[in-house]
Amino acid sequence: MSLGLLNKEKKIPALLMTIGKNMGLYPDGHPEIASLVDELHEDISSLLSGRERLTYSFRDGQIFFEEEILIEESFSCIELTSWCEAKNIDRVIFLPQVDREEIIRFISLLRIKPGADDFDFSAEFKLAGFAHIEVKKLIAVSGKGTDKPGEDERQGDIKKYELATVVISDIFDKTRKAETFDQSKVDGIVDWLVKGVLSKDSSFGALTSLKNFDDYTCRHSINVAILSLNLGLKLGLREEQLVWLGTGALLHDIGKMHVPIKILNKSNKLTRKEWEIIKAHPVETLRILSGWASIEKSALAIGYEHHMGCDLSGYPESPGGTRPHVFSRLVQVADVYDGLTSERAYHTPFSLAEAQNYMLNEVEKGLDQTMVKLLVD
Ligand SMILES: [Fe+2]
Ligand SMILES: [Fe+2]
Repeated sequence: MSLGLLNKEKKIPALLMTIGKNMGLYPDGHPEIASLVDELHEDISSLLSGRERLTYSFRDGQIFFEEEILIEESFSCIELTSWCEAKNIDRVIFLPQVDREEIIRFISLLRIKPGADDFDFSAEFKLAGFAHIEVKKLIAVSGKGTDKPGEDERQGDIKKYELATVVISDIFDKTRKAETFDQSKVDGIVDWLVKGVLSKDSSFGALTSLKNFDDYTCRHSINVAILSLNLGLKLGLREEQLVWLGTGALLHDIGKMHVPIKILNKSNKLTRKEWEIIKAHPVETLRILSGWASIEKSALAIGYEHHMGCDLSGYPESPGGTRPHVFSRLVQVADVYDGLTSERAYHTPFSLAEAQNYMLNEVEKGLDQTMVKLLVD
């Protein structure tokens, strides 16, 4: 993660998380940690020079500075949010004169998993006697929240899903204008998606039913990633492989940003020329993603091959006539399924059962039936 480009307010959550994670990797006092703590202490002190306090809030998986939501950090700092949520911490407040030793002690407490050796965060926090750091705990307010187990998490995931569409929309806009964007934004969303799918919570998978015609391509990208990751989980992929699969699935249509919107949303039959333009999007996706500093080959394959079909009846042509990568065949099934169940300019949405039936029985050309069966199971 490149921390140097961010505002101090935005950098602080990233530094808190990075230091906490590094504490598990390096011994106490290691120069790597010491220099990050110096940077964090400097940023907090400099922001406090014009304020009485710095308040960060953690609600529904989102991070706020004062009242402003930090959208990208809510994805890129998932560990920090989960450390706070696990201890019911609603707010962290830094006061003037906070020193670097307090910061180190605070992060050490924050990163401990509850349940480890009967660890009691509140008791430990009180005992440590922090003079310049305060935490506020979440208080249940009547009418807010719900008694239904898991319902609060679901609401948090829905909010996060909506935020993800904002981040993706910004990435797509920048791609359309041929501007660069910070790749860590994509990594943050993929991390959230992989963790959500690994939690095996069915309500996370249900996020794919949040359709909206207006920002179809953003939602479609997130939905295809969730559906693909669920299939990847059923195939027994490792977490690292799920990250590659999630990245390719999330960005599979990024090449469409170079297709005029009026062609993408056309409800009448496409002309031959328009169809050729649409068919070029996998090649464009490959071209865009190939420029990334670090992208795994299987994610590139998804971009290029997700319309190829396992019988090679689709597009573009397979160099050497080889069958598409297993991830590409998997994403193609997720892609077709989300397309069929979404409202589009050229068709009304299929019900889930109709879509499954269509994919199983009418056998859309080139769909890998093993993957279709995995989706339907
Ligand atoms: Fe596509
Ligand atoms: Fe697609």
